[in-house]
Formats: sequence, C-alpha cells, structure tokens
Amino acid sequence: MANLTFLGHAAFQLKCGNDTILFDPFLTGNPLAKANPDDLDCNYIILTHGHVDHIGDAVSIAKRTGATVISNYEIATWFAAQGIASHPMHIGGAYNFPFGRVKLTIAHHGSAFDAGDGFIYMGNPAGVLVTIEGKTLYHAGDTGLFYDMKLIGEMNAISVALLPIGDNFTMGIDDAVKAVEFLNPGVVVPMHFKTFEVIDVNPDEFARKVSAIGKKAQVLAVGDDLEF
Ligand code: NI
Ligand code: MN
Repeated sequence: MANLTFLGHAAFQLKCGNDTILFDPFLTGNPLAKANPDDLDCNYIILTHGHVDHIGDAVSIAKRTGATVISNYEIATWFAAQGIASHPMHIGGAYNFPFGRVKLTIAHHGSAFDAGDGFIYMGNPAGVLVTIEGKTLYHAGDTGLFYDMKLIGEMNAISVALLPIGDNFTMGIDDAVKAVEFLNPGVVVPMHFKTFEVIDVNPDEFARKVSAIGKKAQVLAVGDDLEF
C-alpha cells in the first residue's frame, strides 16, 4: 500500500513502508502550497526536470534530510557537486531502488535551470514511472501530449497517472483527456494548474471530460491524499 499526498503544482509526497519520496518539491514561492519545506521528511527526491517550479526546495530539503536525489544525469550531477547524494538515470532506463523500480520516460518540454544570471543546462525533461509492490504510478512531468503515451500505457499497468492540465506550458485539458485514453490508468490526478495566472484552468472540467470517456479522475486539493 502506498500513500500519495498532493503538495501543490507538480509536487507530491509518496509514502510506502519506511520510505518517503518527494516529487518536484516546489513549495517556497508556490502560492498554493501549504507544506513548509523545513517540516518535510524524506529519503528520496525525484526531479522531472530543471525548471525552478520543479527543482523548488530540493537543495535545502536534501541537505537537511540527507535524501538521495533521483533525476537525469545532468541534474543528478549538479546536485552531487553540491555534496548532495544523487542517483543519475536517463530516459528509457530503469533501476531497482529499495522502495521500488523507477523508470524515466520522455517528456516534451525544456529543462534549463534559471540561475538568475543565465541558464544552466539540465539535460532533457522526463516523466517517471514508479512501481511499488506491483502498482505503478506515472508522474508525467511537464509535457505536451505525445503519441508514445499509448506505448507507455500498453507496456505498464498504470494504477495512478499524474498529468499536467494547465495549458500554456504543458498539455491543456483536452490534450490531457487524450493522454488518459492513451495511458489507460486506474485513476488520473490532474496537476500543474492554477499556480500561475496563465495555467488557471478548472480541474473539474477535466474530471468531467475524463468521466465522459469512461475513465476515473480524482481532483486532489492541496494536502489531500490517495491510497493505491
Ligand atoms: Ni517546466
Ligand atoms: Mn512546470
């Protein structure tokens, strides 16, 4: 049994057994986040790409907790250079961690880290499949719709899919509904909406459209959780 909590934007906390994994922990500067990064405990942090609304508080959380950062080679190496434990991976590759299996997938997006005085190259953006006790979670990262989601759905029995719906930077509602059709998850949870004015879409519209194709959507409010 795993427990997934929505922390706002694309940030989630996944608890299974003694392990706690954070995804894209953007809390400081996130107008919708409720959790204080100083209160979060975890032993792994998975980062989908290098944008500031995904790297978020990962540096301070990792330094305080000693958590291992799992990400693409470029991001993992950047964290390692700051004395943070990291595990580099790349798209198409999977690895068995103590808590479960992690595989990186493609995502169509950018990944540079905005250092203020210029961009730092952070490799290619990714989505991530996490399989725990036979159940698979798919965090799509930031991405546009792509037809290979059909292959991801065919090759993985996805229990929970976390899909961006906010439009402008990622898939909008209608493209995300098409993604649900391709991925065929047990339940889809929308993310990456409302945080900024340009991604202020209605998740209930997404949920209605998902129901209309005979699939299940669950809109999580910040702080809500889901067991799978
Ligand atoms: Ni992004
Ligand atoms: Mn983003």
